[in-house]
Amino acid sequence: MNIVTCTAPVNIAVIKYWGKRNEALILPINDSISASLDVAQLCAKTTVMSCPTFDSDRIWLNGREESIDNERLQSCIRNIKRQGTLSTGMEKWKVHICSINNFPTAAGLASSAAGYACLSTALAKLYKVNNDISAIARTGSGSACRSVFGGFVRWYMGVDAEGTDSIAKQIVPASHWPEMRIIILVVDDLRKKISSAIGMQRSVQTSELLRYRAEHCVPKRIEEMHQAIIHKNFEKFAELTIKDSNQMHAVCLDTYPPCSYLTDVSHAISDLIHAYNNAVHSTKVAYTNDAGPNTVLYLLEKNVPEIVGVLQHFFPPGNDQNIDYIRGNLPSGIIP
Ligand code: PMV
Repeated sequence: MNIVTCTAPVNIAVIKYWGKRNEALILPINDSISASLDVAQLCAKTTVMSCPTFDSDRIWLNGREESIDNERLQSCIRNIKRQGTLSTGMEKWKVHICSINNFPTAAGLASSAAGYACLSTALAKLYKVNNDISAIARTGSGSACRSVFGGFVRWYMGVDAEGTDSIAKQIVPASHWPEMRIIILVVDDLRKKISSAIGMQRSVQTSELLRYRAEHCVPKRIEEMHQAIIHKNFEKFAELTIKDSNQMHAVCLDTYPPCSYLTDVSHAISDLIHAYNNAVHSTKVAYTNDAGPNTVLYLLEKNVPEIVGVLQHFFPPGNDQNIDYIRGNLPSGIIP
């Protein structure tokens, strides 16, 4: 019997991936950039086990057995088994997978990204795959390719029709910007109504704004963000993060029928952040939302106490607009 266990971080995009040019291979229409989060209570942990006596592949998610016949899951397992360099016939052994997430699944906290990054890394170790793991993770869930690394990570869309160059690369490790902090505001931990896969597909089919974004906005913005990270220019980083999140959600509303992921509380948080930045005459806090109402703030360590005070003042515990706070640093990446 062979067993491997890994943990992988959640990643939160600061330049968003929204839209595929190839659904089956999960090839995006633009590059994206994210940070992987080093938050103990926000990671996926996966154990994979192969054994000659197992008679079928099986998977348990958060302790419950789920169907293994999920197309994306199958594609990940197939890719790994095909690329494996085992010599003893072990590639024919069936595999059992146990994965746990300790955060709201599918509530816009990139649960599938951490999950597929973790699964791909664990399986790659089990089957001794030496190729790029980010490309395999991508076939499970696009953004998962970025969770394969720590620090700030860029997913290059690539140009190859087969997707061989659609891979993620680390821009800088977390140690490059040790003052960077995140605060996750959990507005709602329910499962999102429209999955990002469905939302994106609908946007690609119906949103003219999405086409404009991919062709004219992101190419410039992604280079600016890359440089802002390298030069630790927080003001630029924050402005680009906010603009890109809002543009993604504008695309979602431009989609027909529209995908609306933000709630009144999400909007109230972004209004508050703008009011705060305005009052201090500097962009000290960035906010961003994925395909869900929860907001992630990026800020520097020295500003954390003041921001937490402001948030607790305007969103006091027990209020209708109740939010939970999860604080963290940036990240080391996958822990084998
Ligand atoms: O990888 P998916 O299919 O869960 O898509 C993720 C899309 C966003 O989280 C909204 C943006 C991103 O770049 O992570």
